[in-house]
Amino acid sequence: MIIVENLSKKFGTLLAVKDLNLHIKKGEFYSLLGPNGAGKTTTVKIIAGLMRPTQGRVLINGYDIEKEYIKVKQILGFIPDNPFLYENLTPYEFLRFIGDIFGVDKDKVLKSIDYYFEMFNLREYKDVLIKELSHGTKQKIVYISNFLHSPLVYLIDEPLVGLDPFSIHLLKKLLKEETKKGRTILMCTHILSIAEELSDRIGILSEGELITQGSPCFLKEKECSETLEKLFLKLTQSE
Ligand SMILES: Nc1ncnc2c1ncn2[C@@H]1O[C@H](COP(=O)(O)OP(=O)(O)O)[C@@H](O)[C@H]1O
Ligand SMILES: [Mg+2]
Repeated sequence: MIIVENLSKKFGTLLAVKDLNLHIKKGEFYSLLGPNGAGKTTTVKIIAGLMRPTQGRVLINGYDIEKEYIKVKQILGFIPDNPFLYENLTPYEFLRFIGDIFGVDKDKVLKSIDYYFEMFNLREYKDVLIKELSHGTKQKIVYISNFLHSPLVYLIDEPLVGLDPFSIHLLKKLLKEETKKGRTILMCTHILSIAEELSDRIGILSEGELITQGSPCFLKEKECSETLEKLFLKLTQSE
């Protein structure tokens, strides 16, 4: 579902992503881990079509991200670390707008808005301007805007920053359910416990290079580490 081939990205002289290759299957939950500055956000922005690679290509469901961007956009959900929303709309207006853009049936959009607002306890914020909402509430609106059109592929950068434990619990459940429905998730994070709990496979990025990948169990066994934390520290702090 997601193929990344020989992907590199340079910022001036800095090589932020080095010859990265990823093959992520339909229905797979894949987490990209790595220290700050490892190149996770850069990778995910390139896959989302928001940044051009210096080299290499990305295919989503067989579509080339650069040549068939419109097709890719229709099946892609992106949850960035800094949510971008139209600040002068209310959540209700924003979600109606997203529903329209993705051609979701109006009744379905209205039902979904009610469903998710109830679930996340957001009823009181439905008609408040987005600019007046907290970071965490905005982040929830971004998630709901993605669930609304149910993309084939979710790209999630630092998924749970600023969210309360109840919302984290809920989102873990919802994301896991999405993969059971055959949706594919690529998530970047440095919260190891969440990656371990949710992921089918984990890839560790260090200084732009994928240094290892596999299921959490496989990696721990391969590196003779009892925990993902020990494994992570061993692999990313060798110098
Ligand atoms: N727009 C940019 N211009 C210049 N350097 C950048 C830019 N974006 C990221 N970088 C650099 O690329 C490297 C990887 O950054 P990033 O992908 O944000 O890492 P991560 O998300 O893993 O913390 C860092 O050294 C960062 O400073
Ligand atoms: Mg980042």
